[in-house]
Amino acid sequence: MKIKVTNSYSEMSSVAASKVAKIIEEKPNAVLGLPTGNTPLGMYHELIAMHQKANLSFEKVTTFNLDEYIGLERDHINSYNYFMFHNFFKHIDIDKANINIPNGNTEDPKEECAEYEKKIAKAGGIDLIILGIGVNGHIAFNEPSDHFPASTHIVTLDQSTVQANARFFMSVDEVPRFAITMGIGSIMHCRKIMLLANGEAKAQAVKEALQGPITPALPGSALQLHKDVTVILDTGAASRLTLT
Ligand code: F6R
Repeated sequence: MKIKVTNSYSEMSSVAASKVAKIIEEKPNAVLGLPTGNTPLGMYHELIAMHQKANLSFEKVTTFNLDEYIGLERDHINSYNYFMFHNFFKHIDIDKANINIPNGNTEDPKEECAEYEKKIAKAGGIDLIILGIGVNGHIAFNEPSDHFPASTHIVTLDQSTVQANARFFMSVDEVPRFAITMGIGSIMHCRKIMLLANGEAKAQAVKEALQGPITPALPGSALQLHKDVTVILDTGAASRLTLT
């Protein structure tokens, strides 16, 4: 595992964007796993700038989002589908046919989970997945539990996650309680993993994920078992790590 501590959120974001750009330059039809949330916003801004000013093309890139709420219309302002189009996809030259986001507004979410795994396999697997981490150590929406879920599945969101995400909704009661998420197994099958975290609020989760015992009680700790993980932090998120 490679850990890079940067001086600021903006440096974290540009280091992350450069790594993504390098993957796309080496493999123009790369398959990327993408997160929503506050953490990757700066990276998306950088990638948009690289597209607009440096001709970085996403034309042949395929993307798979990590997760989506269950029960929101696809274009609901708080859906992850909306987030991705608003903050990233509409600003770049990606082929819409190559964008994959779990459909949380389906009659049969279980079937949607199975289909999502099939689509990932059909795309040849994911070259690089980019992750944020929750204050409770969740990655994607794999919440602390007694096992590591293997594949894309339906989750009940933790009360702490519902609270953390309430900032995007009018009230906490509006935050969906269920989501579709890639499993820990889906993440571990990706060829490369990049974990981003900023701010002191994430320091404990980062410490436990990277340097604590490997346990489904702290889902991010599974990353210690993957052979190609790059972690990019700011000083706040790195503040509890023991760095040699
Ligand atoms: C989002 C996701 C979540 C977030 C995590 C951190 O697609 O899968 O695991 O990465 O909740 O969220 P932020 O970045 O808002 O702190």
